[in-house]
Amino acid sequence: MTDYDLVDYPSKPFPQCHPDRLALMARLFGLKPPPVETSRVLEIGCGDGLNLIASAVVLPGAAFHGVDISAAATRRGRRLIRETGLKNVRLETRDFRDLPPKTRKFDYVIAHGLYSWVPAEIRDALLAGIRSVLSPHGIAFVSYNTYPGAYLRQMVREMAAIAAGTDLAATRAWLESATNLPDAPAIYRAVVADEARDMLRREDGALFHDDLSATNQPVWFRDFAAHAAAHGLQYVAEADLAGTARVSQIPDRLQREQHADFHLGRRFRQTLLCHAAQSVADEPDPAALENTFAGAPVDPAIPHPDGAFEYVNRTGARIRTTDAGHRAILDSLAAAWPVYLPVSRFGRAACPRFADLFAAGILDLRTVAPPAPKRRPARPHASPLARSQTGSGAPLTTLHHLELFIASESLQAVLALADGSRTRAQLLRDLRKLYPDDSREAVAAALEQHLEELRLYGLLLA
Ligand SMILES: C[S@@+](CC[C@H](N)C(=O)[O-])C[C@H]1O[C@@H](n2cnc3c(N)ncnc32)[C@H](O)[C@@H]1O
Repeated sequence: MTDYDLVDYPSKPFPQCHPDRLALMARLFGLKPPPVETSRVLEIGCGDGLNLIASAVVLPGAAFHGVDISAAATRRGRRLIRETGLKNVRLETRDFRDLPPKTRKFDYVIAHGLYSWVPAEIRDALLAGIRSVLSPHGIAFVSYNTYPGAYLRQMVREMAAIAAGTDLAATRAWLESATNLPDAPAIYRAVVADEARDMLRREDGALFHDDLSATNQPVWFRDFAAHAAAHGLQYVAEADLAGTARVSQIPDRLQREQHADFHLGRRFRQTLLCHAAQSVADEPDPAALENTFAGAPVDPAIPHPDGAFEYVNRTGARIRTTDAGHRAILDSLAAAWPVYLPVSRFGRAACPRFADLFAAGILDLRTVAPPAPKRRPARPHASPLARSQTGSGAPLTTLHHLELFIASESLQAVLALADGSRTRAQLLRDLRKLYPDDSREAVAAALEQHLEELRLYGLLLA
């Protein structure tokens, strides 16, 4: 039994851990990662495997393997895999250190939320294990808490542990009290209140495992990079382009990254690694984006009196821009959504703008475009994962690897029926059985509207 068998830690789809993101970032830094469509992907400490299962839906030609020491977590995940009928993903209950020495190599290896939360010898085994299973051009993802930012959370976490141990209710009560310390100096009061509020916003599983875990060891980036190097692995990049600070005058890449953390107060890193023999570029090369695909679920631009236009996307990211090139890209992507457009369509000169917009989080880039049917597909086929998740109370996972909450009962009913076997007429017939008091016209209109919503939300495969 582990702590994860006692208190669930429901997994999530993490866009930054999607193998396509690993491939994209590797290309930006001059590498030639294996094609994701046919890749082999391993997630170590996968929990219930939702992150892998969601990737398996959109990459049917790739093979996904998850290992986790918690039997309760992998059991939940295996149930979900059975319900979805997916054949390209499997989860194993296993300590990753017991993977057989002759395990076949993997092109993408993910370890999210593990490195900082296990003792030093397991951290060491993790990097050794990654090195031994990673294919020659493969890319690994390792996330961990980092100093200096993690010192702030560490201070509040340790006080909470002294005050309340691992009792969740007592911890929440103590954190509430810590949001208001009127007798404390202003800076201390502000820091503690901010951290306490952030911890209070977390669900029980995350609060218990991430913050109250007996082991929670942040590291300096410098030490993480040295640890990776000791295992024959080297730093490629972070899993996104955000968070670059103005420290470009430092010539050494690793030192520059470390100083960036000082400037940004960084507390968490999601680092990509590759074998030491690979040649990693010092800076991202936007020209590498020419053979990628871009999508952006942005609302129509809001004009501002100063001549700028503001774009907001469904994940909450926003930018204000006066640049006509940015506007042309975002307006085209908005019109095409949910279809991803080839970046090459905009010409090579547009690549730096795509890099800027990607760094701002306002558009998504992929080496393989996610599935997106045209309007009014003949036999609407929704994601089997989202269909299994309907009615569970859990958020649905979209084909873009995002969470989505759907309140509408009739929309959920259409989602459940749209399994690719029914024509639109058959869908209407079966939907009418669920709403016998409504007119045919009303149900037909609701069906068309809901199918279009499912398409726009990224829930329709075909
Ligand atoms: C914080 S959770 C992260 C789960 C998932 N990766 C995520 O980010 O949602 C850490 C996971 O690592 C698993 N774990 C810890 N030590 C492990 C080991 N030695 N071998 C395999 N899994 C392990 C735990 O059971 C737990 O599910």
